[in-house]
Amino acid sequence: MRKPIIAGNWKMNKTPAEAAALVNELKPLVADAGCDVVVCVPAVDIAAVKEAAAGSNIKVGAQNVHWAKSGAYTGELSADMLVAAGVEYVVIGHSERRQYFGETDQTVNQRVLAAVAAGLKVILCVGEMKDVREAGATDGLVDYQTIMALNGLSAEQVADVIVAYEPVWAIGTGLTATDEQANETIGVIRKAIARKYGQECADKVRIQYGGSMNPKNVKGLMAQPEIDGGLIGGASLKAADFSLVVNYDK
Ligand code: PGA
Repeated sequence: MRKPIIAGNWKMNKTPAEAAALVNELKPLVADAGCDVVVCVPAVDIAAVKEAAAGSNIKVGAQNVHWAKSGAYTGELSADMLVAAGVEYVVIGHSERRQYFGETDQTVNQRVLAAVAAGLKVILCVGEMKDVREAGATDGLVDYQTIMALNGLSAEQVADVIVAYEPVWAIGTGLTATDEQANETIGVIRKAIARKYGQECADKVRIQYGGSMNPKNVKGLMAQPEIDGGLIGGASLKAADFSLVVNYDK
C-alpha cells in the first residue's frame, strides 16, 4: 500500500562536478526501481544534480531548510529558495544537526511547518542515542520527537511526511539496528501518529530506517512490515552500492 522510498543523504560530500558524475552513473542503474529514489545533496550541488537527473526517476532533496520566508539569517536557505531551485524533498532534524548545530525539537518543528507550507516533501529524522536505548527510553523519546516535530500540521499534511527512524548509535558506525528492533521502533512511531492523527493517516505515512543501511542488510530490513524505505548515508556515495540498495527487491 505504501510505496517504498530510498533516499541518499550525501551529507557534506561531493563538489558539483562530482555530484553530476555520480548521478549520471546512477541513472541507468536505478531506472527500473520499484521505489521512489531521492538524493539529498549539499545546496551548492542542487543545480548540477537537477541538470544531471533531468528526465530520470531520481528526485532531488536538500539537507536542511530555514523557517523564515527571508531575512537576516546568514548562511541559511528558505523553503521558497529550495522550491525555486527545483528541490522536492528536504531532510529535517537529522541527528548530526541536532548534535552539532543546536537543532531542537522546536526548531525542527518550525522548519517542518515552513517546508510543508512551501510544498516540499519532508524527510523528518528522529532517533535515540545509545544511552537512551540502554536506559529503555527509546519508545518515549521517538514518540515525543515525532509528535513535537509534526505539531501544527493537519492529518492530511502529516500523511505526506516521510519519517526516517535513525538510531544515532547506528549512523556511520557500521552497527545496524536488528531488523526486529528497527521494525518495532518504527511501529512505535506509527502508533504515536495514529494516536494523534488517526489510523488512516498513520497507515499512509512512509517511515524509513536509517543507520548503516547497505547492500548487505537492506533486504532483511525491507522485509519488515513497518519499514517503508531507507535513508542512506555512506552507501549512497557510490553508484554501485546505492543502486544495489535501491534495487533491493530484484
Ligand atoms: P549512514 O548514515 O548510512 O552512513 O549510517 C545514515 C544517515 O545519517 O542518514
